[in-house]
Amino acid sequence: MSKAESWGSRVGLVLAMAGNAVGLGNFLRFPVQAIQNGGGAFIIPYFVCFLLMGIPLLWVEWSMGRFGGKHGHHSTPFILDSMDKRSFWKYVGVFGIFTNLAVAAYYCYLESWTLSYMWHSLAGTFLGKSSEEVSSFFSTYVGLNTWEPVLFWLICLLMNTWILSRGLSGGVEKAAKVGMPLLILFGIFLAIRGLTLKEGSDGAVFDGVVGLNYLWTPDFSTIWSPKVWLAAAGQIFFTLSVGMGSIQCYASYIRSKDDIALNAMSAGWMNEFVEVVLGSSILIPIAIGYLGIERVVEMTQTGGLGLGFRTLPYLFTQWGPLLSALAGFAWFCLLFFAGITSSLAMGTPCMGFLQDEFKWTRSKSAWTFGAAVFILGLPTVLFFNHGVFDEYDYWAGTVSLVVFALLEIILFAWVFGMDKGWKEINEGGDIQVPTIYRFIIKYVTPLFLLGVFVGSLPDLYKKIIDFSNPYVVGSRILLLALFAGIAYLVYIAYQKRLKEGRFTS
Ligand code: TRP
Repeated sequence: MSKAESWGSRVGLVLAMAGNAVGLGNFLRFPVQAIQNGGGAFIIPYFVCFLLMGIPLLWVEWSMGRFGGKHGHHSTPFILDSMDKRSFWKYVGVFGIFTNLAVAAYYCYLESWTLSYMWHSLAGTFLGKSSEEVSSFFSTYVGLNTWEPVLFWLICLLMNTWILSRGLSGGVEKAAKVGMPLLILFGIFLAIRGLTLKEGSDGAVFDGVVGLNYLWTPDFSTIWSPKVWLAAAGQIFFTLSVGMGSIQCYASYIRSKDDIALNAMSAGWMNEFVEVVLGSSILIPIAIGYLGIERVVEMTQTGGLGLGFRTLPYLFTQWGPLLSALAGFAWFCLLFFAGITSSLAMGTPCMGFLQDEFKWTRSKSAWTFGAAVFILGLPTVLFFNHGVFDEYDYWAGTVSLVVFALLEIILFAWVFGMDKGWKEINEGGDIQVPTIYRFIIKYVTPLFLLGVFVGSLPDLYKKIIDFSNPYVVGSRILLLALFAGIAYLVYIAYQKRLKEGRFTS
């Protein structure tokens, strides 16, 4: 058995947590959500969701994780179990493994595109091509006309598995320490390019700041639309990695007296910096600078990945061979670092569970995770054009997060109780969490989450009754089977604990 896992340093922990949060969501999902929801009209609900839902959930999840870790639990089924004597909580905790596996299944595929595009940017593949040709390069790629996507996908999976098998301080933390600073460096380079884009130079039609203004000029016209609020809440969830189980898992390896009040804030704000400063200064200004607001809004109606993979590589070629190679490399390398530090976080809950409950070694657990992601990811790779990818994203990357977050905050604030909960959050804290948050965590956040859940029911219903696409129905069944399978493993683990006399609460 490998020796007990733990974080090497505080900087490493915060960078790994920030790396968990900072992901493809910051650079590809955020700009698209903002554009689709009216730019300046999106930003206000977005910040309200961050303050009333994101920040409180960060504190709650960090403290749940550290609390569980004290009792030797490193994944949400038994972390939740240790907080109350009722036995169904461990099955609620299944979400915290399920989400990570199912999201990793499509996320790693996306992550692998960035490797390929990094290579093609350096090799000059996009130079001299028309915008249609660059765009159809992407269609050909995901259409699997060559083995290349599969190859890069396997390389990407192997890299993830290998880093995970080296452990937290020896693998994950090192990846974050290299990846995060480079990501910020590349991000600043591209943001400067984006914001200083001048109308008339390099073929641009508008200044880069036109796009920035679109995003940052408050627009109150659609601010009361439920659709905008749901999108903002969904983005806060996805980008902060809350409601997923990966924060609890990372936090369970913190020593019991170490600060979480300040660390949670630092990682959360670092994510917001990367998202709202860097994330809004690259894709949007450059795309709008060349294509104008209307065209870009129109393009995002059909989905978001196109801007980053179809449009941007073409626009970079307007900057000449050298700068375009550099910009393309910087953009896709940044995406790769953002992606891998997040997909590593998706691996740890599943590994923690296997190590705790079945006494597997770290590397056996890591390879099992890799194999699971391979099997679950196969449908998204093979049937990308049939909507499987989006279906995974909807169930695992959207619905599950809200359901899980709602249940866990009820457990934390109402069952475990705010008295104990508040003490957990502040224990060992380098800052005192503002007292108002005690009220927010108890009343505001749960009600808010309930509202988000109820608000998404109509859409959920529409999806459930739609059986028109067999690929989509198939992937739904696969996801259900995955959930049931994990629940079964939790049941076995529980029986095993009873037999060994290891008490769970
Ligand atoms: N926050 C990441 C992003 O913005 C996504 C992410 C990280 C995630 N960890 C996760 C999604 C765990 C699901 C489960 O891209």
